[in-house]
Amino acid sequence: MAFEITGTGRAIPSRRVTNDELAKEKEIDTSDEWIRSHTGIGARHMAEEQVAASDLALEAARKALAMIAAADAAPADAEKAVAEAALSVDAIVLATATPDFLVVPSTACIVQDKLGAKRACAIDVSAGCTGFVYGLEIAAGLLAVSDSRKRALVIGSEVLTKFTDWSDRGTCVLFGDGAGAVVLEKTSLPQQGTGKRGILRTILKADGSGAEHLVCSHGGSRNPLKAGETIAIPPHIGMNGQAVYNFAVKAITETVAEILSQEGITANDVAWIVPHQANARIIQAAARRLKIPEEKFYLNIEEYANTSAASIPIALDELNRAGKLARGDLIILMGFGGGLTYGANLIVW
Ligand code: ACO
Repeated sequence: MAFEITGTGRAIPSRRVTNDELAKEKEIDTSDEWIRSHTGIGARHMAEEQVAASDLALEAARKALAMIAAADAAPADAEKAVAEAALSVDAIVLATATPDFLVVPSTACIVQDKLGAKRACAIDVSAGCTGFVYGLEIAAGLLAVSDSRKRALVIGSEVLTKFTDWSDRGTCVLFGDGAGAVVLEKTSLPQQGTGKRGILRTILKADGSGAEHLVCSHGGSRNPLKAGETIAIPPHIGMNGQAVYNFAVKAITETVAEILSQEGITANDVAWIVPHQANARIIQAAARRLKIPEEKFYLNIEEYANTSAASIPIALDELNRAGKLARGDLIILMGFGGGLTYGANLIVW
């Protein structure tokens, strides 16, 4: 039994905001030169006021389903084909740190309804920027334990610019909005040995002792907003940049080395490493430590900034639609972020 990605999609808000435009619009004491040289970010896409995580997730999911619908039959009526494909989805796993609602319902349930995925179970995953890597493993598990489940949607969706303190220049310039989705199918091909396919192995880790380094400290049950309370800044992500930087370089270095060693392969055997797009300097430092050429790491942070759980599936969809993934290619998806959490999936495309 193998768990294969058969379709990908992404949703990117049309409003593109360059570093200079952001500095002007939000009155941030920064410059394009500082942001580019410290992070590699050139722009981000920002969702409009009325757009929530489920809206972007829905668009990305529809595109991923359209890909498999076209692969299945190429029917003339694309919308009908997507609706039919949605009926075949057995599970929706949606990773987000910026859900539509704080308590209930889950963002996954909103997507399930709007998609018309009537028979799918639906859950959100809260694992910060590692959410998509966790989500793939959770979805594979849901498919593995039940004969009747065959197809899952795994989505990463974020509207981080709504949870940003615009007066914190060390953090606010980093984030962008977007969503990415994949269709994960249970197939009869082998997961190991000759002709192996799909997700070969996954490493998932957590280190809650670093929770304080990335935290949205207001609005939850620890510090609930109280009736009549006036807050100067709406709930937002606070970050200890230096601590996160050091954690991230170590997490990538150790996890990539571990997954290669577990599989008994080297980086030369791998076509792409698709890292969470947090900061180009983090990726470059990890590449140097691993002695892996930087070109092996797919980077699109210049265009989208950090979209947390969405960054890996957005990157995967870009690679896929650009024809840069060949059947049989080995790919590592590598995530790290709030929790702290980190992990990687090794996949045969
Ligand atoms: N523009 C101009 N100057 C700035 C800015 C800015 N946007 N931000 C900080 N500075 C200044 C600081 O005030 C400081 O000035 P000072 O020396 O006069 O005090 C100087 O730049 C250096 O500040 P540092 O914080 O030391 O800058 P650093 O080189 O560490 O870069 C950064 C900061 C980019 C945030 C880095 O620490 C980093 O990338 N950390 C990891 C962030 C990350 O990956 N987060 C993931 C988030 S996970 C999640 O996804 C939700």
